[in-house]
Amino acid sequence: MSLTKVRVGLVGLGLAASSHIKAYQTNSNCEVTAVCDIDVVQAMLIAEQYKIPKIYSSYEEMLKDKEINVVDITTPTFLHASMSIAAARAGKNILCEKPFCLNLEEGQSVINEVAAAGVSLMVGESYVFMTSIMKARALIDQGEIGKPQQIRERFGTWLQRPGALDTERESSDSHRGWRMNSAKAGGAGFPWMFDHCVHFFATAEYLMQDIKIKEVYALKSNISWMNHTKMNDKNKQENSEMHTYRPEESGDIPIITWTYEDPACQGVWMRAEALNGKYDPMYGFSATIIGDKGMIEVLGEGGKGLMWNDKNVHLILHRKDFDTKTYRFDEGGDDIWQSEVSYYSCAHRNQINEFIDSLLAGKLPRYRGEDGYHHVKTTMAAICSAKDGKPVNVNNINDKKYNN
Ligand SMILES: NC(=O)c1ccc[n+]([C@@H]2O[C@H](COP(=O)([O-])OP(=O)(O)OC[C@H]3O[C@@H](n4cnc5c(N)ncnc54)[C@H](O)[C@@H]3O)[C@@H](O)[C@H]2O)c1
Repeated sequence: MSLTKVRVGLVGLGLAASSHIKAYQTNSNCEVTAVCDIDVVQAMLIAEQYKIPKIYSSYEEMLKDKEINVVDITTPTFLHASMSIAAARAGKNILCEKPFCLNLEEGQSVINEVAAAGVSLMVGESYVFMTSIMKARALIDQGEIGKPQQIRERFGTWLQRPGALDTERESSDSHRGWRMNSAKAGGAGFPWMFDHCVHFFATAEYLMQDIKIKEVYALKSNISWMNHTKMNDKNKQENSEMHTYRPEESGDIPIITWTYEDPACQGVWMRAEALNGKYDPMYGFSATIIGDKGMIEVLGEGGKGLMWNDKNVHLILHRKDFDTKTYRFDEGGDDIWQSEVSYYSCAHRNQINEFIDSLLAGKLPRYRGEDGYHHVKTTMAAICSAKDGKPVNVNNINDKKYNN
């Protein structure tokens, strides 16, 4: 059923929330009716800052609000499934931040409850809504690089905008300390990877024209990049964002490789922070997609440092015979990172506009519960592979294997 006006109640007022609120408030078919947080002071501050009329400190109370027809869940990951299920039972449409769930059982329960309630659910997978990444996909669909066959993702340091991340809040779930605790962030000992890998795998399939990843092989290193950055003052300067996180245990996954259902295609993700003596002049997330007729290099979240002929660019399309084209996407910057492409400001807005448009048209949104579930499963396969030291088929993953 389509809506005529989208009225949002947003729960969890931390890092992700502001980008969502700003995005809703730029769409005339939508208003943010209420905000909710267990931290009432934070709820009052956000309500005042964005002129939002209603405040709740109890999610259950907010769900009783009849004015609200969409619930946006930007709470820590361990709350995503239970809050989505409660929202579906209350008849609300749902936008739930990534990662969709902590395990497959709870992810499947959400999918079932959403179907039973007949509401719409979109998962907040913002990487595939970045303007630069969507342009890369459009160029691939236009045949500019021929058949895409390999993707190389690299993950460099993020440079935080001064003061952008509030890490001073006290109560246990109202600062990002939970992200380094597997019980709350997921990951069975690799919480940071669980939080981020869903982005990397979603992008890897999106840029391979939706061909599914079949098998993953992840390398485990006993040196934790997080411990390393904690100890190294020089890196602290360069890598300030990372210091908001505290490691749960040592050990890291620096490289993941994978194959796709199409045997001609493969991918690799690699960590490229300036640590352990590595020097890399590029920042943030970037990807290279190689086809049989050309290649695309593209910047993503926090991306900086892609150069062509002494010019800073955001996307390079290399075609045969040196027929090269470059692109920039100047969309007014990023609220959080010093980033050449706009992530927090624009990718979240693109994603929320997609959700609002789908609700108004009575259509399913792009990136649903099934997609979120699939990329959580692929991430679980990567974590199992790192622990076991061998390749893992995504289809063979289940909660029992993952938790062993
Ligand atoms: N797509 C993205 O770019 C992106 C960016 C940041 C975070 N995220 C995701 O968004 C989610 C939230 O992350 P964050 O960094 O914003 O977290 P955060 O720690 O900054 O904020 C979480 C907020 O939830 C509140 N909260 C906790 N329990 C609650 C409850 N029971 N009821 C109401 N409020 C409650 C906390 O008080 C806090 O204000 C995570 O799943 C994270 O992975 C996505």
